[in-house]
Amino acid sequence: MNECPISKIAGTGFAVPDKILTNQDLEKIVDTSDEWITSRTGIKTRHIVSDDVENSDLCVEASKKALDEAGVRNEDIDVIIVATVTGDVNFPATACYVQEKLGAVNAAAFDVMAACSGFIYGLNIGNGLFIANNVQNVIVIGSETLTRITNWEDRNTCVLFGDGAGAAVLQPSTGDKGILATYMKSDGRLSYLLMNPGHNPIKEYFDHEGKKMLPVINMQGREVFKYAVRSMEEAMYKVLERGNVSINDVDLLITHQANIRIIDTLAERTGINREKVYINVDRYGNTSAASVPIALDEARKKGLLPEGSLCLMTVFGGGFTWGAVLVRF
Ligand code: ACO
Repeated sequence: MNECPISKIAGTGFAVPDKILTNQDLEKIVDTSDEWITSRTGIKTRHIVSDDVENSDLCVEASKKALDEAGVRNEDIDVIIVATVTGDVNFPATACYVQEKLGAVNAAAFDVMAACSGFIYGLNIGNGLFIANNVQNVIVIGSETLTRITNWEDRNTCVLFGDGAGAAVLQPSTGDKGILATYMKSDGRLSYLLMNPGHNPIKEYFDHEGKKMLPVINMQGREVFKYAVRSMEEAMYKVLERGNVSINDVDLLITHQANIRIIDTLAERTGINREKVYINVDRYGNTSAASVPIALDEARKKGLLPEGSLCLMTVFGGGFTWGAVLVRF
C-alpha cells in the first residue's frame, strides 16, 4: 500500500446525450427482443449521441461538473487525459479539443487508448504525474461515441453499446484519502476477439468465421465474457493485496458496466455482498471508457461513497486490457 496516497479524487461529473434508445426501439431495427436483451445483458436503455455532438462536447459537459465540484478554474488545469476509442478525429487527441473548448490554456493534453479500461488506465497515469511533474490539478475523462462505430445490422453487438462521458479531477492527497493501489495489465494476443480494424489501407482483418471485418465493433461475445470475468477478478485481488485490505473492507464495487451477468458472476466469485455492487448497465448499456466514471459520479451523488469509504473499481476491455484502482474517499 502507498504509505500515503499520492492523489485523491476531488470532483466527479458525467454527461450522456438526451436521446434514449430502448430495447423496443431495437426490436424495429434488428431481429431481437426486449426479453433476449434483458435476460442476456441486463440492458434496458442506452443513450445515443446526435449528429451535432462530438465526443469532446460530452467530455466538456462532464468535466465542467467535475471541475466545479473540485473548485478548479479552467486555467488551473495542469493535465487533461481523455480515455477513448472514438475520439473526434484520428488525431490530434480529443483531449486537445477539450482543452480548447474549456480554455484550459495552461494544460498538457493527451489521449489514452485502452478501450473499456481507459479510464482506470488514465487514473493510474494521472496519479503517477503527481510524483514527478509538480502538478496540482489533473482531469481524467472517459468518453465514448460508440454508437458511431456500431454495426446496426449486427444484433450480436448493436444492442450492447451506448454513448456518454464521465470525468474525475485528481488533486494532491491529504492524509489517508486518495488512490491506495492500482493495477494494469494487457494481453495483445487476444486483440482479435474485440476490435475495430478501421480503414486500414494495407491489411484486411477476418473474424472467426472467415468474414472480412468491417470498420465497426467486431466482437466474439462468448470469449470476451469469459476473459472479462477472470481478468476483473484478478485485478480486484491485486489491488486488495496491494492495498492490504480484504474484499469485506470494500464499501462499493464499481465494475465495467458491460453485462449484468458478468457483474453477477464477479460478485458471486469474489463473495462480495451484492448490495455493495453498483449497477447502471440497465440504463446506459456499455459505454466503454465512460462506464466506470459515470457509475462513480452517480454513486457519489447518491451518497454511496461518504468520507472514509473504500471504493474498488475494476475494468476490462479490448486489447485485451484490464485493471483496477482502490480509492479511499
Ligand atoms: N437478439 C436475439 N438473439 C441474439 C442476439 C440478439 N440481440 N444476439 C445474439 N443472438 C443469438 C445468437 O445469434 C445465438 O443464436 P444461435 O444459437 O441460433 O446461433 C444466440 O443468441 C446465442 O448467442 P451467444 O452469443 O452465444 O449469446 P450469449 O449468451 O453469449 O450472449 C452476449 C451474447 C450478450 C454478447 C454475451 O456473450 C456477452 O455479454 N459477452 C460479453 C460482451 C461484453 O461484455 N463485451 C464488452 C466487454 S469489453 C468492452 O466493453 C468493449
